Amino acid sequence: MSRKDDHIKEALKQQSTTNDFDRVRLMPNALNECSLNSVSLKTQFLGRTFDAPIMINAMTGGTAQAELINEKLATIASSYNIPMAVGSLSGALKNDASAKTYDSVRSIMNNAFLIGNLGAEHGIKNVERARKKIDANAMQIHLNPLQELIMPEGDTNFKGYINNIRDIHAKLDIPLIVKEVGFGLDPHALKTLKEIGVDGIDVSGRGGTDFKRIENARRDIPFNDLNNYGLSTVESLLEARPLNIQTLIASGGVRSPYDVIKALSLGATMVGLSGWFLKLVHNESVDSAFKQMDVFFDELRRIMCALGATKPTDLRQVEKIYDAELYNYIQQRQIKK
Ligand SMILES: Cc1cc2nc3c(=O)[nH]c(=O)nc-3n(C[C@H](O)[C@H](O)[C@H](O)COP(=O)(O)O)c2cc1C
Repeated sequence: MSRKDDHIKEALKQQSTTNDFDRVRLMPNALNECSLNSVSLKTQFLGRTFDAPIMINAMTGGTAQAELINEKLATIASSYNIPMAVGSLSGALKNDASAKTYDSVRSIMNNAFLIGNLGAEHGIKNVERARKKIDANAMQIHLNPLQELIMPEGDTNFKGYINNIRDIHAKLDIPLIVKEVGFGLDPHALKTLKEIGVDGIDVSGRGGTDFKRIENARRDIPFNDLNNYGLSTVESLLEARPLNIQTLIASGGVRSPYDVIKALSLGATMVGLSGWFLKLVHNESVDSAFKQMDVFFDELRRIMCALGATKPTDLRQVEKIYDAELYNYIQQRQIKK
């Protein structure tokens, strides 16, 4: 079985659990005079207007199974006018059969916003080649040192990544996003990426799909004791707040509309979901996936109305209440609330 199909199989086994979004409460707003009709989810992101502040984040491509999943995801993304990222295109750079599996995704997306994905070991030439394979509207570069180091066939040398990102950003004429894959972006990574000036920073923190478990399932001798490795999505967002990153993307463990609202209140412009969408298209017919999407959009608007927010950016004003564990993190790290 290919690595891509292994990842899908193992990700589908993971149940959604409690995570740091449960440690954040939002101050209610009982006297807010909001009218549900006036609530809009419209979101400006990387130069386009989308119908909601959510996106389908990078997952897959390159195999027959991945193609089918991407086709369903693309149907959702184009129907609901939300961005969609495909999984790493590294296989498509090596192999025409793998590259062909992306053709239908672009054709279903039509002119909708499709994002390509590669690792930071690649230079601008490969990024341009990957971009062309799907006629990408933006590119993501993923940072995943721990995943690579657990992966039996993974990279073990991360030298030159900062220069690669700097050079790609300077030469690429579509937006560049840099993301983690579920271990969170730390203060050094966040500051460096802000200084380089990449167009979007996706913290992709701990709390959802767990690549330690996915790669451990592919190893003969699993790594133990890495259970609390990484920053949660909420912790990464808290670290990002003082940096005033213009386009901050929250992903990792987003399970519901309320999690999306909390991520937006913590400063995100866009919220990415991977595991949630994978299970949606795996478990449901396209018709029933559409019904769940309608419910998701409706709940987002209703929660915003309850909080007195008529647009997603209003949520940044909502006061947050943290539980003792997160408050301890905030104090230890001396983050201004
Ligand atoms: C099956 C699967 C494959 C993934 N492959 C990629 C990938 O190729 N590139 C990437 O940047 N992230 C990849 N990811 C990571 C996601 O983009 C995301 O960062 C991570 O799953 C956390 O989000 P979640 O908790 O909503 O799943 C993958 C995730 C899943 C579930």
